[in-house]
Amino acid sequence: MHSVKFLHQDIQDEQTVQSMVNELLSQMGLDEKIGQMSQVCGAGGWVPDHLADAIRAGQVGSVLNEVDLNTVNELQRLAVEESRLGIPLLLGRDVIHGFKTILPIPLGQAASWDANVVSEGARISAVEAATAGVNWTFAPMIDISRDPRWGRIAESLGEDPFLCSQLGNAMIRGFQGADLAENGSIAACAKHFAGYGAAEGGRDYNTANIPENELRNVYLRPFKAAVDANCATLMSAFCDLNGVPASGNAFLMDQVLRKEWNFDGFVVSDWESIVEMSVHGFTDDDEQAALEAVTAGIDMEMASSTYRDHLENLVAAGKVDLEKIDQMVRRILTLKFKLGLFRNPYTNPEDYPALLNESHREIAKEAAVKSCVLLQNNNRVLPLNRAQLDSIAVIGPLADDGYEQLGTWVFDGNAEDSIHCLDAIKQLAGDDLIINHCKGLDSARSPSHEGFAEAVETAMRSDVTVLVLGEESFMSGEAHSRANIDLPGQQQQLIEALAETGKPIVLVIMAGRPLTLDRVVDKVDAILYAWHPGTMGGPAIADLLFGVQSPSGKLPVTFPKAVGQIPIYYATKNTGRPPSEESCIHMDDVPPRAAQTSLGMASFHLDAGYKPLFPFGHGLNYGDFHYVKITTSRSHIALGESIDIAVDLINSGVHAAEEVVQLYVRDLVGNVTRPVKELKGFRRIKLNPGQRTRVGFSLHTDDLAFYNRHMQLVTEPGQFHVWIGGSSDAPLWAEFEVHP
Ligand code: GLC
Repeated sequence: MHSVKFLHQDIQDEQTVQSMVNELLSQMGLDEKIGQMSQVCGAGGWVPDHLADAIRAGQVGSVLNEVDLNTVNELQRLAVEESRLGIPLLLGRDVIHGFKTILPIPLGQAASWDANVVSEGARISAVEAATAGVNWTFAPMIDISRDPRWGRIAESLGEDPFLCSQLGNAMIRGFQGADLAENGSIAACAKHFAGYGAAEGGRDYNTANIPENELRNVYLRPFKAAVDANCATLMSAFCDLNGVPASGNAFLMDQVLRKEWNFDGFVVSDWESIVEMSVHGFTDDDEQAALEAVTAGIDMEMASSTYRDHLENLVAAGKVDLEKIDQMVRRILTLKFKLGLFRNPYTNPEDYPALLNESHREIAKEAAVKSCVLLQNNNRVLPLNRAQLDSIAVIGPLADDGYEQLGTWVFDGNAEDSIHCLDAIKQLAGDDLIINHCKGLDSARSPSHEGFAEAVETAMRSDVTVLVLGEESFMSGEAHSRANIDLPGQQQQLIEALAETGKPIVLVIMAGRPLTLDRVVDKVDAILYAWHPGTMGGPAIADLLFGVQSPSGKLPVTFPKAVGQIPIYYATKNTGRPPSEESCIHMDDVPPRAAQTSLGMASFHLDAGYKPLFPFGHGLNYGDFHYVKITTSRSHIALGESIDIAVDLINSGVHAAEEVVQLYVRDLVGNVTRPVKELKGFRRIKLNPGQRTRVGFSLHTDDLAFYNRHMQLVTEPGQFHVWIGGSSDAPLWAEFEVHP
């Protein structure tokens, strides 16, 4: 009845796996092969007859969104015990930033610039998800995102290919572990391949038009890194890329992914993205959509059934080669063998640690601590000194909301497991410090000023106000883009009312994206950007406010002054008329009837200039760090050689703190125009007060490679500038030359 001999087969090596895959494949009928290429949605806690029948018939290779363990084990039993060949199922779930213990949203994790934090977070997420029988997550999301209007920037790792690649691979390591067959390891899925983050207008699902050179130099780099890191699967994007939907895009799925990168994992479509190719107007009907998708190289179809409905006919009609089907099924079976599913498809929760255990909570708290970014700290109002304060006002709709702090893409986390800011501040404040609390607004969107009077009165009778504002979790994430990215509702008005009191204000912002804070920054003293910090967001924020730990996060994405500046990012091109302080005059300063040519003829906005509000890589801490003495090991190197760049870092402050030291490079002249800066290295350095250390990076000429106008990956001889500092606008620089 079924392939029992595989059930107890230990995985030895690639060759063994391939021989078992081929042996199994040789027993499969075409309908069973197509079944492996089909992922269907679970019913959430039970097994409908139609699903049980389809599994028995070998028509299902994977089920997504089933996390009731008894149901998962029953689905596996049906597949293994009641189908002809007994092929176990892949159980997929969006474990994007935690399962029960929720980590900060990925954009927040990216602000940690800490691969260990990100990897550990993915690891506990995998272990908790595996407890429910999940063996495949649809993460990391590594779409380069340079448009904060786009709701899915929240689940991205930001605007920079280097940072995104480093942290995306850290997530893959965390999810997949050292061995996919180990308990707690689950297959990762790098998504959404590719270019989805460039959706026009920041409007989700919108068309993405990216010239191939930019596609290769920016958007594809994190996916290449993921493939090189043995990410088990990729997912195709919803969007059409340059007019061709990703799920039917042979340039992406075959030319780049298979022919150039030799990817040997498999590609799953996004939810119904295959049938949606007819909605795009790219195909006439489901059969043509199936043909375009399988021809392009989508190995597994998520949620829709065009493969099950049409692939047999397409093979019979000679439009799809059986060898192509076999190749796709091999990839899927290979992953199932590598996951150890043929040896043991069932999950015993006793093989795993308790969900939400103290260790997991501590990891989630550390991630939240390192993700928070101190954007400003005027008058050094932070850290709050408990010994010098009698009372603190805690105000705002997000101060005590354990649900909103979890953020977007939380399928299995629960608000009641969260510890919010108010409780955590009370916990740390102890008995001597009075905590005066009120909401001020019922919610982030509340239009009513009814609570303002109480908020002002509360602030007046307190020494300092901690104001917790931001976005509700639904305001970012899939399909949740915004055209205006100010603080929603009447939150700006509440800030202004409280600023009138003249009392110090510490603003904590929870959001799924950069917000435009141009009207906020001069109304408050400190701004701590917490993103949506997850289950342990409260204790993390409280530790930072009271100086138990220093903030250390750095922005993984640029904060614009105004939405009209978007897209705005640090790795911009110089243009033929680059802006400068001198050339950019503000509209308000232009004399009446100024001659058209009297203004700076440079690339800027009359009413916003050219700089962001906060640049990529920005983030303050409680130390007082200085960078001095940048040196290069040589003034010139030949192609194939490396150069060392180093700097002295000093903490002349009174608090210990961690600084994320960043290395940027500029290639002054290229076969195509090159960015004015590109991140090529970063490292977290902790220094105690008065401590000094030398921080060095090594750059190989391969690290300077880019795709030229002929789509060749090359490093060109020439002049390079290099910076080391605590942000992308670091001033300390040196230069070197690469010669042939
Ligand atoms: C969604 C998302 C994708 C997710 C999938 C399964 O629409 O685009 O990121 O993994 O469907 O939930």
